[in-house]
Amino acid sequence: MYWAGAIDWAVRDFHGYLTNRGTTYNAFLIMADKITLIDTVNSPFCDEMMARIGSIIDPAKIDYLISNHAEPDHAGALSEAIRLIRPEKVFANQMGVMALNRNYGIDGISMVTDGQTLSLGNRTLTFVETPMCHWPESMVCYLHDLNILFSQDGFGMHLASYERFADMLDKHLLDEEASKYYANILLPLGSAVKMTLSIIQELDLPIDIIAPDHGPAWRENPMSIVQKYASWAEQERSDRAIVVYDTMWGSTDRMARAVGEGLAAGSARVRLMPLGGAHRSEIAAELLDAGALLVGAPTLNSEMYPSVADVLTYIKGLRPQGLVGAAFGSFGWSGEGA
Ligand code: FEO
Repeated sequence: MYWAGAIDWAVRDFHGYLTNRGTTYNAFLIMADKITLIDTVNSPFCDEMMARIGSIIDPAKIDYLISNHAEPDHAGALSEAIRLIRPEKVFANQMGVMALNRNYGIDGISMVTDGQTLSLGNRTLTFVETPMCHWPESMVCYLHDLNILFSQDGFGMHLASYERFADMLDKHLLDEEASKYYANILLPLGSAVKMTLSIIQELDLPIDIIAPDHGPAWRENPMSIVQKYASWAEQERSDRAIVVYDTMWGSTDRMARAVGEGLAAGSARVRLMPLGGAHRSEIAAELLDAGALLVGAPTLNSEMYPSVADVLTYIKGLRPQGLVGAAFGSFGWSGEGA
């Protein structure tokens, strides 16, 4: 099996998520009797993927393409790849067939179902549907004998690197980026994540490598990231308090510092995150295990300060569970901000 994806060193805004270390779009080439490509890349990176495939084999020799996930970062290059490779078959599940047709105009896709196996001659793949982890059509596939789980978005991270395995990278970096990814992508989909985890458990198949569609693959103790997902999906809260605020003339800043001092005096572990220096996705990462969120907003034109509204809209979509919340704010005349 070869990695044949693309490294995006430049991306910093991934649908609202600050990807300050870039990302990778992973495609995997299985050199079985039926040569198979699993997932593709974001469309601007099609040339890079084709060049990587071309460094291994003539792309025209690929027999099967598989789409585990129809979001543009993995299927954006699919129609161009089909045009260039002319594979015998392209596989997706029922929702995937619909999404690939509706979003990219691709037709003629062969439908696979949950639990179905596909013979690659000397190798076998099994498909497992994992709806809403991350989109309704999301599925994973398992390569028998080599014991590789191709997990699409699940267990990934946004991290550009030449290192293709997690055990080649710094552990703290992995923890930071994997948890940030979970908080920003999968947090609102906790029940789907739990379902995926139970599916993996029920599969009861040996897993030697988990190969996600973003970031490095997990080869050394691959179940450690599965255990982390199980814990994140529970959204266990701690005594940490996050104070998020912006300020117009300095008053809300003074209030935030007073709130922070008070929380710390009450033995909470506190982090102040003034919006001049914190991105919404960094705040989301903090909320993965924080116990309290306190939000400070000045009033501007009888409304909440816009930068605070941005963060709250984003957090609302992520639907964190079990947080204690509070609002505070300053005003010159009317006071709607808080
Ligand atoms: Fe990496 Fe849901 O796409």
